[in-house]
Amino acid sequence: MTRVFSGIQPTGDLHLGNHLGALVNWVGFQDRADCVYCVVDLHAITSPAEHDPATLRERTLETATLLLAVGVDPARSILFVQSHLHEHAECTWLFNCVSGFGELRKMPQFKEKSEGKGETVSVGLFDYPVLQAADILLYHADEVPVGEDQRHHIELARDIGQRFNHRFGEVFTLPRAIHPPAAARVMDLQEPTSKMSKSTSTDKGIVNLLDDPARIERKIKSAVTDSATDIRFDRDAKPGISNLLEVLSAATGRSIEELIAEHDGHGYGAFKAAVAEAVIELLRPIQTRYRELASDVGEVERTLADGAARARAIAAPTLARAKDAVGLLPPA
Ligand code: TYM
Repeated sequence: MTRVFSGIQPTGDLHLGNHLGALVNWVGFQDRADCVYCVVDLHAITSPAEHDPATLRERTLETATLLLAVGVDPARSILFVQSHLHEHAECTWLFNCVSGFGELRKMPQFKEKSEGKGETVSVGLFDYPVLQAADILLYHADEVPVGEDQRHHIELARDIGQRFNHRFGEVFTLPRAIHPPAAARVMDLQEPTSKMSKSTSTDKGIVNLLDDPARIERKIKSAVTDSATDIRFDRDAKPGISNLLEVLSAATGRSIEELIAEHDGHGYGAFKAAVAEAVIELLRPIQTRYRELASDVGEVERTLADGAARARAIAAPTLARAKDAVGLLPPA
């Protein structure tokens, strides 16, 4: 059976970009693949500005709870916290030794996040994609459901796996990224030429999965658009309207052509109201389920403990094979 792996940083309240770009596919894959999903807390400590120890612990649990609310089903999938397995950090070291300084320096997300920080950028931020490669390759993942922004990271994981196999023998399966047909890159509502992002968007630019209906409506109705009146898809000339079309398409499962035919000619106001309603209805059951799950933290913790044990049963033998292939002497 196809093996699927994906991860998400523990930002607590996840947003519509995370949901439409990745999580909808995480949930969908459970019907047809063997799925492993991870809250990547080790990745979340690579940017000192965003790292507060007490908040990190809370958000890790909140993110796991929200993943369950979205529909990750522990009866069918493995859900665990990255730092609960030492194998990820250990495999990263093996991969560090087959990764090039040049290829990491070119990673678009590293370039973006390190801009202006000069020599103070952490080695962790630089090494971030190597840890991500370890996440994926330890599980022999065939497919990795992610938003468009992760494309280069998945390609790097593939390159690292290929290089390792070439030097030391076939240990790792080479993964490929899977993006949704619409909304693989959800844009900031206030700045529709930048991606919706926890770290760079303002609150008005982001729809959080736990925002109440009135707030969602307000944010979508005040989304920045252009001064024309026609509804058509053109990312360059009409980034705001194109973003809302993608969101509506992903939220309703209807094609962009169909949505244009229905809404063009009726004005931006009515169109935005339709987008807001679709997003509110999409998130309503998730919010209800989140409130139920959040009332029993113990149950979420038990799910994560069980997930870590099941994850280790896959990752530990892979790491052992990799260490053996490299020539590390096993303990007597
Ligand atoms: P993260 O935590 O930033 O985001 C989680 C998922 O949400 C997607 N996403 C988006 N999709 C569409 N539009 C957006 N505006 C948007 N913002 C975020 C991301 O593409 C991602 O799929 N490096 C990863 C976490 C990670 C990982 C992994 C992913 C660590 N190890 C192994 C896959 C496999 C990240 O920071 O995602």
